[in-house]
Amino acid sequence: MAADVPACGVHSSSDGRRGGLPTTDRVVFQQPRPVPLVREIIQGENQQMQQLRIALLYGGRSGEHEISIRSARSIHKTLLEKHSMYPIFIDKQGFWWRVPDRDQLPVNNTGLTERVCIYPGFQAPTLFSNQSQLRIDLVFPVLHGTHGEDGIIQGVLESAGIPYVGANVAASAAGMDKVIMKALFVQEGLPVAPYVWFYRSRWRTGQQKCIDLIEGKLPYPVFVKPANLGSSVGISKVHDRLELGPALDEAARYDSKLVVEQGINAREIECSVLGNETADASLPGEIVPKREFYDYAAKYIENTTELHVPAKLNPEQVKTVQDLSIRAFQAVGCSGMGRVDLLMDRESQKFYLNEINTIPGFTNISMYPKLWEVSGLPFAELLDRLLELALQRFRDQLENVTSYEAIQNP
Ligand SMILES: Nc1ncnc2c1ncn2[C@@H]1O[C@H](COP(=O)(O)OP(=O)(O)O)[C@@H](O)[C@H]1O
Ligand SMILES: [Mg+2]
Repeated sequence: MAADVPACGVHSSSDGRRGGLPTTDRVVFQQPRPVPLVREIIQGENQQMQQLRIALLYGGRSGEHEISIRSARSIHKTLLEKHSMYPIFIDKQGFWWRVPDRDQLPVNNTGLTERVCIYPGFQAPTLFSNQSQLRIDLVFPVLHGTHGEDGIIQGVLESAGIPYVGANVAASAAGMDKVIMKALFVQEGLPVAPYVWFYRSRWRTGQQKCIDLIEGKLPYPVFVKPANLGSSVGISKVHDRLELGPALDEAARYDSKLVVEQGINAREIECSVLGNETADASLPGEIVPKREFYDYAAKYIENTTELHVPAKLNPEQVKTVQDLSIRAFQAVGCSGMGRVDLLMDRESQKFYLNEINTIPGFTNISMYPKLWEVSGLPFAELLDRLLELALQRFRDQLENVTSYEAIQNP
């Protein structure tokens, strides 16, 4: 938004040119034509969650495509008991396919014939294909990683005025980019492990300067990461200078921004956050990888990682984790859900924020729902709460004035 445009009401300007607006005496800010609203929104707040038409987006153009399928299956199975479900499979090329058999979530597009899309413009939320128009109430994006958790899909949905579960465009993008996320944490005074970052072009043109920058600030071991990714892909633990170059080259394969962090000898603590502008935190859990760190193999290949739900922490530590997690959620501007991952220094017992995931793993054995379950919120109720939060945010957004009309002085 232009910084010098007044936020609301009638603006009278003396020279009629302030803010680059047309030369007029009066500019009236007003709501655009009313849009057909989701039934729930028309009927107002504080009602029992009624049956909704939910498009479940899953799969996606991401390294976490397969995990998304697993998450979507759990969510689909539970929501189907109460709502009308319209699963949409996004293949690895990014095409959207309507899944005809609502009980089955296929893992590829074999046998799927109806490609769907959405069109920009505020109208009743609808998915279109050359065979049908499908009216829905909201979208549940169950997409992890790139093109799903990073604001891209959220932007597409915003452009068509479709309510959706989870973080908005800005929070999704910030939650995916570790450089932006850390800057927001630091800005709010939240603790993060010491780090440096630079573009890969700088690494490729001046390696010694980058090494000096890192070694001037951080003792070994350090963690080298691409800024935008997930599932530990492209991440290395670096023990000495010899390992540093190859680790930076590896991270540079995945993103143009590279982050180098001080390695913390840490317990890995996770906490689930649920809410919009005000939010609640679950009891914390703990991940205990049996490898040197929680790398891709520990996450998805080996089945050796232990999950402690809840984590063995004293009440004061639980409170600290919950407080930091809610503040992290708010610093990034999240809505709906967020799983906050922390590092707890084994010696000093100090907590550092590692990251926030705006669409966390969601199988019924995943940490996000398990932590809610152990905190007293069962899976089905958690999902209903997320639907409510999505509609609440959409309703709130509709209050925003989005257009102005310049009126010539009669
Ligand atoms: N600064 C650090 N100190 C210690 N371990 C770390 C640090 N950063 C990352 N790790 C390890 O690497 C894993 C993946 O890093 P993370 O930043 O969470 O990336 P991703 O977004 O791919 O999950 C963590 O779960 C942890 O095991
Ligand atoms: Mg992580």
